Amino acid sequence: MNYREILKEIKPSKSERETVHKIAKEAIDYINKKSEKENIDVEAILVGSVAKDTWLSGKADIDIFINFPLEKSEDYLKEKGLYLGYECSKHLNGTAEKKYASHPYIISHINNYDVDFVPCYKIDNANQLKSAVDRTLLHTQYMEKHLTENQKDEVLLLKKFMSEIGTYGSEFKVGGFAGYLCEILILKYDNFENTMQKVSKWKNNTKIDLESYGTSKFFKDPLIAIDPIDKNRNVAASLKREKMAEFVIASRNFLNSDNKKRNEYFHEFKKKIDLNYLISQFRDRKTKIITIKFNIPNVPVDSLHPQLRKTQVSLEEKLENNDFSVFKSDYWTDEDEIAIFIFELNVYKQSKYRIHEGPKIWGEEASSNFLASHKDTSYILGDTLVLNKKREFETAKEFIKFVFTCEHIHIIKVGKNLKETIINSYELNDIKELLNNDNYLNDEANISYFNDFLKFLDDFLNPGQLLKR
Ligand code: UTP
Ligand code: MN
Repeated sequence: MNYREILKEIKPSKSERETVHKIAKEAIDYINKKSEKENIDVEAILVGSVAKDTWLSGKADIDIFINFPLEKSEDYLKEKGLYLGYECSKHLNGTAEKKYASHPYIISHINNYDVDFVPCYKIDNANQLKSAVDRTLLHTQYMEKHLTENQKDEVLLLKKFMSEIGTYGSEFKVGGFAGYLCEILILKYDNFENTMQKVSKWKNNTKIDLESYGTSKFFKDPLIAIDPIDKNRNVAASLKREKMAEFVIASRNFLNSDNKKRNEYFHEFKKKIDLNYLISQFRDRKTKIITIKFNIPNVPVDSLHPQLRKTQVSLEEKLENNDFSVFKSDYWTDEDEIAIFIFELNVYKQSKYRIHEGPKIWGEEASSNFLASHKDTSYILGDTLVLNKKREFETAKEFIKFVFTCEHIHIIKVGKNLKETIINSYELNDIKELLNNDNYLNDEANISYFNDFLKFLDDFLNPGQLLKR
């Protein structure tokens, strides 16, 4: 397998590196000068994959951390940090946006690059940790120290492979492998190909402990990668079991492929999605689709995604409890205005009656009472008194309409910021209606969201396509 050709495509060129480092240097110099002038005791430092030399061409997000002394308050750090970020963004003609992770930061678009300005505390070791982002500088230093030049290339190959099979990124939406975790894998297994070999044989609860801290036994996750700079943290804690499984399957598929096929794993899986064919695939499954579209509140994406998942999972559970059988459900969001739940049902419509169980006949008093109040309708099933009760909801749609009201929303577990917007804005449609008639999705201005939604639906129908070539 000729990895050199692939590296030519994914490794930043000299001029791209120069551009990126020039932006980073200008930003850092500006912040350091500005803060000195205004007597703010900070130091701006380049961290993340640009600093580590492990970023994929065209994908640079420039991570600039603004380090504050440990004795400063969190309010101070937030106020001054965001201020410096904004000023710097203005100075470099960027457009800035406030974001929240575990704490607020600024992301600015400067010359087509995303620059993150993140206030944090300057720490020398993990014991001094005050916020989750404080580890990042230590991560960067660790990788700068330990990754060899060759291994940096191997990290690029692994990151690219991960991106194209859909397992890259530790944000909740993906639940995959963080860049830092990819780097740890390369330090452990030395190169991309050996990583494939080893990963193809991974077992559940695989343990990686580069610094031999011996703390892996305290974790129960599917993959345990002890943070080399913090023995009490599993870097893979946010990795979903399913994403780990996908990576293992993809590694096996890769190893079983010839070189031409292997090459394709480093390129985008391109598929033209035809709207009518998509709809016909749904029809062919002979299931019933209910989509629920609603407006989303203005909350950070880190918080939005778990809330959407929780709500969708809970609604699925309640549908099941009411004898509607759910084949599959999922959600999609543009992370800006709307979200859509999709429920695919094996059983959508119910018969008129369900069997309601009363007491067992052995308790004389209870059964007498039951018989008295249901004189004509109760009967014996086994040793239990039962009766046929008319169902409250004949269709899943009726059930959902019942639930999405102020009075009944408590029946399901709803993400805390979603209650109001769901009740006030939800729309129920089948898949065809939604795709053909929805104003938002069919608005010219939202064409890229529409395409992203089609991709989501295609993946809903045909999961796992990215794992093979
Ligand atoms: P990034 O997500 O930007 O990662 O987080 P990266 O290493 O720069 O990789 P790219 O951008 O995808 O190429 C910046 C830093 O935050 C810490 C790591 O130290 C990372 O280098 N981090 C981020 C974690 O430790 N865990 C995470 O899940 C995410
Ligand atoms: Mn980054």
